[in-house]
Amino acid sequence: MTLYPHDHRMWAVIGIYSGREDNAFYHRTEDGLRSRGEKTLSAKETIPLGEEVIHAVTNPLEQITAAIHVYGGDFFDTPRSEWDPQTFQERPFDLEHAREIFAQANKRRPS
Ligand SMILES: [Fe+2]
Repeated sequence: MTLYPHDHRMWAVIGIYSGREDNAFYHRTEDGLRSRGEKTLSAKETIPLGEEVIHAVTNPLEQITAAIHVYGGDFFDTPRSEWDPQTFQERPFDLEHAREIFAQANKRRPS
C-alpha cells in the first residue's frame, strides 16, 4: 500500500519493528512539490522527521509493516495537508480518507 504525500506539522520519530516502509520525501516550491529523496526503513531502524517534512509512505511487502510513531503534538487535531499522488494538488488532510486507504490495504492482505 502507499499513503499519498502528507505532512505532520510537528516533529516525529518512527521506529519500524516488523516489515519495511519506503519513504519518498518532498519539499514545497512555488511550482508545487519537488522530490527530495527516498529512505527505506526496515525492522530495527528509526528515523526522525522534522516539522517541515512532507512524505509518502509505501509498504512494498505482502505483509503488515508495524511501527511505533511518536509525534510532537496533537496528531489528530492539528490541521495539515495531503497531496494528490498524481497531480500533487494540495488539499486539507482527510483522516477518514487515510483510514480508508489502510482499511482497503488490510482487506487485500494475504491471510
Ligand atoms: Fe507521515
